[in-house]
Amino acid sequence: MWTKRLLLSISLLGLISRAKFQLTEGHATLSEETGFGMTKHSANFTTFLPFFMELSLPYSFIRGETLVLKGVARNYMKKCAKVQATLENTNAFNAELKDGQQGACICTNGSATYTWEAQANIIGELSVTVSAETTQISDTCDGPNDPGQSPRKDTVVRTVTVEVLKYEPTVMIR
Ligand SMILES: *[C@@H]1O[C@H](CO)[C@@H](O)[C@H](O)[C@H]1NC(C)=O
Ligand SMILES: *[C@@H]1O[C@H](CO)[C@@H](O)[C@H](O)[C@H]1NC(C)=O
Repeated sequence: MWTKRLLLSISLLGLISRAKFQLTEGHATLSEETGFGMTKHSANFTTFLPFFMELSLPYSFIRGETLVLKGVARNYMKKCAKVQATLENTNAFNAELKDGQQGACICTNGSATYTWEAQANIIGELSVTVSAETTQISDTCDGPNDPGQSPRKDTVVRTVTVEVLKYEPTVMIR
């Protein structure tokens, strides 16, 4: 039964800790050809995303300092994908992509890294939304777009706390 194999695959993937799992409405299926897929059954299931974004950022930082956000788009599809990474702009911060190539081609098991630097305009909870989406999926990086593949997109929303540097006067009283 596929359930056993799915669980086995998930724990294996978990072991090598490169997987991102997400609760979705639908059934996960396994196929030799494409790995994991989705069918429309009414059960919630934990599925492995073959294309996803990882975001690392500090838990908190001091306003006035530069917040460095690092996103890694990973592709575990059996195809190559051209990738666009987006950091959603808000009034709460100003960010700039410092490193990373838009439209980079990632093949099976590959990744592309994007680094943004941001300055916060607020104090407190700052919400950051980063996504990676495919602009083309094909057999090779030079290959034509595979019309059988629907575009994929993964979005990560994270919160970071912006703090104020506490000024502690060092006054000597005699
Ligand atoms: C799946 O999860 C959603 C939200 O988490 C819930 O509303 C829905 O009832 C769940 N479906 C089943 C079949 O458990
Ligand atoms: C991708 O990684 C998996 C697991 O490590 C491996 O079995 C597979 O051969 C790799 N595929 C490619 C094309 O590198």
